[in-house]
Amino acid sequence: MAGRVTPRRRGSYGMDAPFAPAFLAGLVLFYLVLAIVTGRAMFWLAVLFISALEALFIHTALRGKFVVWAELLAGLKLRGDERILDLGCGRGAVLLMAAQHLTTGRAVGVDLWRKVDQSGNSAEATQRNAVAEGVADRVELHTGDLRALPFEDNDFDVVLSNFAIHNISGRAGREKAISEAVRVLRPGGRLLIVDVRATQQFQAQLARLGMHEVARRGLGWWFQPARLVTARKPQPGR
Ligand SMILES: C[S@@+](CC[C@H](N)C(=O)[O-])C[C@H]1O[C@@H](n2cnc3c(N)ncnc32)[C@H](O)[C@@H]1O
Repeated sequence: MAGRVTPRRRGSYGMDAPFAPAFLAGLVLFYLVLAIVTGRAMFWLAVLFISALEALFIHTALRGKFVVWAELLAGLKLRGDERILDLGCGRGAVLLMAAQHLTTGRAVGVDLWRKVDQSGNSAEATQRNAVAEGVADRVELHTGDLRALPFEDNDFDVVLSNFAIHNISGRAGREKAISEAVRVLRPGGRLLIVDVRATQQFQAQLARLGMHEVARRGLGWWFQPARLVTARKPQPGR
């Protein structure tokens, strides 16, 4: 392994779903004005509650996900020669931490670089971050849709994804993304998905597809409502 990876980063990773914190900030302002004008306790409570949600959201995007994934990646106990695929890698928050666990392996990111899902999202921004984190020699970026991955079957030892698949609208589209994740994973390979919605759907589909060790769990009260779904692709004959 290429050394211990800490959540402290040198790159610049933007804000997830940047319209969400802007909307919450607008709501806080709205209730603050109401609270000051009317003096009613319920509006002060609304200010407190929405401010807490806003703080949780910003904490998750700027720090929480790095802490969570540092632990998840360490738990994989990688050798360093694996091929890892990050579905919807965005500016590389998880992809580049994964790359720091590799020596001869490759960390491959695929994305459509939607700025509505992450501020400043682009392949160029991710490439700059790869250089800033010192892993550009181990990172490959591809433009592609999670519903039709531009990779061969059984190509990756690990497939992971953070806060990406829920952005696909419609159950059928999300099911296609999960089927694609399984298709490109090699037999015995591991799948890890952290997401804020539809994780029960992912879990059920993975079980239906015959994946082994399918599990779903929370990631701590401060990382709500995200859930981790994990699974392993069966080896033929086992
Ligand atoms: C909230 S961002 C998360 C990015 C990154 N995983 C992270 O944790 O920082 C969601 C990402 O999913 C990507 N995305 C959404 N729908 C996609 C699709 N159908 N195919 C590929 N990427 C998609 C967006 O472009 C965006 O980069």
